[in-house]
Amino acid sequence: MSALKIENVWKEYGDQIVLENVSLNVESRAFVALVGPSGCGKTTFLRMILGQEKPTRGTILLDGVPLPPEPGPDRGVVFQRYSVFPHLTVLGNVMLGKELKASPLSGKLFGAARKTAIEEARAMIAEVGLTGSEDKYPAQLSGGMQQRLALAQALIMRPKVLLLDEPFGALDPGIRHEIHLLMKRLWNETPMTVVMVTHDMREAFTLATRVIAFERPRDRPEEKLRYGATITRDIPIWPPRRAGAAA
Ligand SMILES: Nc1ncnc2c1ncn2[C@@H]1O[C@H](COP(=O)(O)OP(=O)(O)OP(=O)(O)O)[C@@H](O)[C@H]1O
Ligand SMILES: [Mg+2]
Repeated sequence: MSALKIENVWKEYGDQIVLENVSLNVESRAFVALVGPSGCGKTTFLRMILGQEKPTRGTILLDGVPLPPEPGPDRGVVFQRYSVFPHLTVLGNVMLGKELKASPLSGKLFGAARKTAIEEARAMIAEVGLTGSEDKYPAQLSGGMQQRLALAQALIMRPKVLLLDEPFGALDPGIRHEIHLLMKRLWNETPMTVVMVTHDMREAFTLATRVIAFERPRDRPEEKLRYGATITRDIPIWPPRRAGAAA
């Protein structure tokens, strides 16, 4: 299970109200696409689910339990850029989460545990189509390959929730199409709920089970500080798409 319940969440930075009274139930295994104008608080919303930011008011529950106030292995994230570590190889990046979990101080695994982690990482690297690039560094990969790597790095921890912040926004159309197919397959095969921010409506309708729009209902300059954005549209995809069904 991986259901999210967002209840009356507000986020303020100083005098600025970014989000106001956001409530949303996301069923387990849904793929939610989040759209809305620049600056309306989409990244802020994702960062609250991730645990990098706290709501000013309101609660966020994962499977009925309040989210711990810091990031954890139950939530993975991929940003538009810089999700992976430039000084680690592909294999090193994918293994990192496992290493830190097993040994938070040294980040090292030994013996059989290390062997198992390497095997798991190699399998994950194969899943995202990067076999053969295990020893390369991120700077030696194309943009599309770096995002595949970022997906592998997030998914090896088997998160309940995968958070994506415009992960494919910087990719060329052809590459983007390929990675959409991969994303669909990963979502179908992995028991997780996905929340993805995108600027691209077509991408939203290609991948999601549901499209949520954030908007600031009152957007005159003098109102900007006093009113935040909230959910203005909630569009289920038709015909319904279900995880685990053929892509
Ligand atoms: N740490 C912070 N401190 C102060 N203000 C912040 C902080 N993070 C975000 N904001 C403000 O919150 C508002 C929403 O920012 P956010 O990055 O969430 O928007 P967004 O919808 O993701 O925009 P974009 O589509 O351009 O990525 C902006 O006005 C931003 O300046
Ligand atoms: Mg953003």
